[in-house]
Amino acid sequence: MAGVNPYIRKVEAVRTDRPFTVTFVDEETGATTEVRVDATLPLGRLGLEGSLLDIAEAAGVEINHSCGGVCACSTCHVYVTAGGKTCPPATEDEEDQLDKAPALTTDSRLACQCVPDGTQDLTVRIPKWNRNQVKEGHH
Ligand code: FES
Repeated sequence: MAGVNPYIRKVEAVRTDRPFTVTFVDEETGATTEVRVDATLPLGRLGLEGSLLDIAEAAGVEINHSCGGVCACSTCHVYVTAGGKTCPPATEDEEDQLDKAPALTTDSRLACQCVPDGTQDLTVRIPKWNRNQVKEGHH
């Protein structure tokens, strides 16, 4: 069961049953993982249900998530380089956390708060520094 942060406004994200693909690109290794998101993917375990972090977790793709996916850190910062418009805009709470993340770009999102609506495939780059944090075991 995914955690909930009672101190933030709930994100109005709509999950869809329309199948789509998320391609995760690990900037450290260059590895690419294509994940088909459909009714068989076990979601609802981490971050907002159907979020990029939830999808990554279900597919075995590692993204750091120190706060457990409740919008209380910035360690799940990723770059949504394609299909980002299919996610609702970042809330003020997400923006506040993103402000603390390194190397922000216009593609920056918190993976645990970004829930695609399934109308388009996405490409998500996992920054090098995120992967290093996972390896070094920072929590
Ligand atoms: S895991 Fe902490 S904000 Fe996403």
